[in-house]
Amino acid sequence: MSEIRTGLGWDVHRLTPGRPLILGGVTVPAEKGLEGHSDADILSHAITDAILGAAALGDIGMHFPDSDPRWKDGDSLMFLRHARDLAAERGYRVVNVDATIILEQPKLRGYRQAIRERLAQTLELNPDCVSVKFKTAEKLGPVGEQRSAESQAIVTLARDSA
Ligand code: C5P
Ligand code: MG
Repeated sequence: MSEIRTGLGWDVHRLTPGRPLILGGVTVPAEKGLEGHSDADILSHAITDAILGAAALGDIGMHFPDSDPRWKDGDSLMFLRHARDLAAERGYRVVNVDATIILEQPKLRGYRQAIRERLAQTLELNPDCVSVKFKTAEKLGPVGEQRSAESQAIVTLARDSA
């Protein structure tokens, strides 16, 4: 028997010229990138929060406060890896990840496989267990006006019981 738990994550960052657009650890060529204390990788942040949420371990800001200079311009895959390790210490393994990035442009579909593989490698999962989807905001609101981008994620964890 396995105990199954699910967790939800969400993130938003501003888009600004002169910053890299890093999504799931993959740098995507773009006119604008994401602004933030770390590398502002919204996808990694949303998945990190989803893992922490499923294990009821708080949230990303609790483990990686943006006041801490250690995380300045940091690689957000480190957050993801750390959340996975914290969950694993409590007996939880990641079963699957499903995420959506909401970004007006550029088109991301050409990067889907690279992003899935990078996330899977970080989480020690088969890429088949990592889904990444893309949506525009149909020109509506701050995402549609290309002032920001968002990501949502849901994660399932399992813990085998004796
Ligand atoms: O937002 P919309 O429904 O118009 O998106 C249609 C498709 O375009 C998505 O299913 C996705 O495959 C792709 N897309 C993309 N990159 C984006 C937004 C959408 O590849 N930034
Ligand atoms: Mg963030």
